[in-house]
Amino acid sequence: MKPLQFLILLALVLFVSAVARENSMPGGWSPIKNINDPHVTEIADYAVTEYDKRSGQKLKLEKVIKGDTQVVAGLNYRFILTATDGSSSGNYEAIVWEKVWEHFRNLTSFTPVHA
Ligand SMILES: *[C@@H]1O[C@H](CO)[C@@H](O)[C@H](O)[C@H]1NC(C)=O
Repeated sequence: MKPLQFLILLALVLFVSAVARENSMPGGWSPIKNINDPHVTEIADYAVTEYDKRSGQKLKLEKVIKGDTQVVAGLNYRFILTATDGSSSGNYEAIVWEKVWEHFRNLTSFTPVHA
């Protein structure tokens, strides 16, 4: 086998096993069924507001496009959302860690995505 073919095969194997892991293993991400749930909106809104606080920007949540959750010590939320600065809209991926019983929330990541 040529080195390039081997690399492609290796990449494919890693990709497939990563997908299999996400879908079946505990700790994997599962899709949020009701994206319009008020609590989902609240967490997404928190993500945008918190990002604004840290970055000094003035983004506002327009809508959540999709979301996943992951059981950790609490719950991780991962959103693809649209936010606007008033003149233009953009898509972002936000990850929020929530421990409801401790009233703890933290924005772990907020990055622009091109979707
Ligand atoms: C919240 O997340 C940020 C970014 O990952 C991290 O720097 C910070 O320490 C976290 N805060 C808490 C209280 O966990």
